[in-house]
Amino acid sequence: MAELNAANAGTYKFDNDFEINRLGYGTMQLTGEGTWGPYSDPDQAASVTKHAAELGINFFDTADSYGPWFADRYLAAGLKQVSNRNQIFISDKVGQTRQGPNVWTPLGESSYLRQQVEVSMMTLGIDHEDLLFLHRIDPNYSVADQVGELVKMQDEGKIKHIGLSQVTVDQIKEAQKYAKIDAIENLYNVANHKDDDVVDYAEAQHMAFVPWFPLNTGKLIGADSPLSTIAKKYNVSEAQIALAWLLKRSPNILPIPGTSSIKHLEDNVAAANVKLSDEGFDKLSKLSH
Ligand SMILES: NC(=O)c1ccc[n+]([C@@H]2O[C@H](COP(=O)([O-])OP(=O)(O)OC[C@H]3O[C@@H](n4cnc5c(N)ncnc54)[C@H](OP(=O)(O)O)[C@@H]3O)[C@@H](O)[C@H]2O)c1
Repeated sequence: MAELNAANAGTYKFDNDFEINRLGYGTMQLTGEGTWGPYSDPDQAASVTKHAAELGINFFDTADSYGPWFADRYLAAGLKQVSNRNQIFISDKVGQTRQGPNVWTPLGESSYLRQQVEVSMMTLGIDHEDLLFLHRIDPNYSVADQVGELVKMQDEGKIKHIGLSQVTVDQIKEAQKYAKIDAIENLYNVANHKDDDVVDYAEAQHMAFVPWFPLNTGKLIGADSPLSTIAKKYNVSEAQIALAWLLKRSPNILPIPGTSSIKHLEDNVAAANVKLSDEGFDKLSKLSH
């Protein structure tokens, strides 16, 4: 059996300090229902992040608004126990406020963005953000002001790379007038790749593309999965097919499946060993609507 290691997915180079394994991990499942409140078993949550690092994952995606703060606390607790902590790259996000389960409200006021970066760094135990996404562009503030505040923090050494989340190509182009944009994080998976143009633009501009909901929140797995036939053919799980499709779609794609289960984490990391044929990839690409 092939070794279980995220490195088998290949690497993506952010800069001279950071070449990361393309298969990452997203922390959003490490909260209560509706991404609100604490996870039911905090020790388990921290163990999942620690085990992810042990399996070669060195790219972790998180946000202040997951909990809020709870996912960040578990991530910090898990990574504290890892021997290669200085080789781990965290992408973080600010710019969404929370009022309750499943309620998200963008806020792009510059002093708020700054506050959230400062508190996030304290919570995560870091002295700078490796990659900081503007979680949403807030239509009540100009892109120049929102991205401009991130650039100020970049100039102060608090942010290394700047990214945007859930944006169109036109919005990326506007933001590029004010900052070097190094990554995009949009909803994207084998069953929903309406943002193909954004993936192509990101690749052409040498930006990472981080697809959120890579497993379509788990809907790509289970009895009604549209991936079950091909998964049987490859003798792998449906989750692995969904992740293998993303890994083949573009060398700039960095999938971040979320899970609170060690078993599912290991299943997802094994996707790094699955190589789809061109024919299999094309067939799967037609599933999106
Ligand atoms: N930028 C944004 O606006 C944005 C929005 C949403 C999410 N995100 C990021 O994207 C990441 C991924 O999204 P997500 O976690 O919401 O959705 P996802 O990765 O598409 O799916 C997660 C769901 O699939 C289940 N699952 C995971 N691996 C599995 C496996 N191998 N077999 C069976 N079930 C499995 C999980 O349950 P178990 O816990 O039981 O495994 C969970 O219910 C988040 O963690 C977050 O970092 C970003």
